[in-house]
Amino acid sequence: MTITTSVINNETEHELFFHNYKRLPLAVSHGRGSYLFGENGSCYLDMISGIGVNALGYGDRRIVDAIAEQAAKLVHASNLFLMKPQFELAGKLLRITGLSKVFFANSGAEAIEAAIKLSRKWARQSGASSKNEVLSLSNCFHGRTYGAMSLTAKTKYLDGFDPLLPGTGSVSFNDIEDLKRKVSADTAAVFIECVQGEGGVHRLSADFIEALNALRARYDFLIVADEIQAGCGRTGKFCSYMHFGLEPDLVCLAKPLGGGLPLSAVLGSTKVENVFAAGNHGTTFGGNPVACAAGLAFIDALYEDRLMERTTETGKWLHDALENLAGKYDRIVEIRQYGLMIGITVRREAAYYVGEALKKGVIVNATSQNVIRLLPPLTLTLDEARQCIDCLDEIFSEEQ
Ligand SMILES: Cc1ncc(COP(=O)(O)O)c(C=O)c1O
Repeated sequence: MTITTSVINNETEHELFFHNYKRLPLAVSHGRGSYLFGENGSCYLDMISGIGVNALGYGDRRIVDAIAEQAAKLVHASNLFLMKPQFELAGKLLRITGLSKVFFANSGAEAIEAAIKLSRKWARQSGASSKNEVLSLSNCFHGRTYGAMSLTAKTKYLDGFDPLLPGTGSVSFNDIEDLKRKVSADTAAVFIECVQGEGGVHRLSADFIEALNALRARYDFLIVADEIQAGCGRTGKFCSYMHFGLEPDLVCLAKPLGGGLPLSAVLGSTKVENVFAAGNHGTTFGGNPVACAAGLAFIDALYEDRLMERTTETGKWLHDALENLAGKYDRIVEIRQYGLMIGITVRREAAYYVGEALKKGVIVNATSQNVIRLLPPLTLTLDEARQCIDCLDEIFSEEQ
């Protein structure tokens, strides 16, 4: 068998890798600000920013310097030791959220796994042995490891992987009556995304969250806010649950948290602070000092550059411009926008627009079949936002 690694294209990718990704036909070389460059010198406005990871755009000096400085000192030591960047980042996250304890992991799904374990162990300590049910909402996405996948409602992610984690169940999104039917004294936790990302950018209603809160008071379960996509400033507040005045018991963060390096966190309230004992959970790499140093640089920049305010303003500008396009083109069904988390429902497969935009030098993403998703860097300028709108305008007008 000949193995070709010098030609970087989708055919050789097919030969080398398992077929679990559907990659764009673009070999990338480097990035600068909101732009991503191809190996052949082509340049793209990146409106998906590494699936919501590169919140400061590419090549932010503060992140690059923080990584270089920490890498020169210590790349890895493991959680056998105490490491200053972990302490500093933990302190910052607890101050921002008002929560009580942190566990660091490497990916969103890993944070969800830790939250499932925390939920079950908390329930076991505080209730009957039957109190172990973990619920999530229809159309949600929590990741692809077994526990996270078992909470993820869409069959396209589940087909062929039975049996899933027992004791999980689903509540219809924003359906208060279904919520009332499903939760009980046996419920350990309800996992929610206040703004569903992969599900097509849909927001929970304030009434649903109020009902969830009231049911928690009655049955004493945990509310777990999955802020992996909507958190870290993307909706204009540090976490999307903060728009609702909700007080979750556990919060999962990831994506931009490590400034582009793999880092996730579970934050917990005082209610769960003593659930884990030594050895109950852990990871070799989680809380890596270089990732934490990059994360600190990201969080500092988020506040110093007032990026959440900017996200709100740029998001509003994009919303108005997209509504304008929706008025012109009946192929656009609906615009949903929360800060810089934007979903555009269209009448055909959204993948068509991803391909057309790429040809015109703009990277957008498709989710839930017919939703064009935008997750640009929080540093996006109005000129860049205009470039994206002009590109979509051109595509829709050519399609008429
Ligand atoms: C809301 C949400 N939860 C969990 C995950 C899983 O994160 P990861 O891909 O880092 O495992 C994602 C990823 O897109 C997500 O959007």
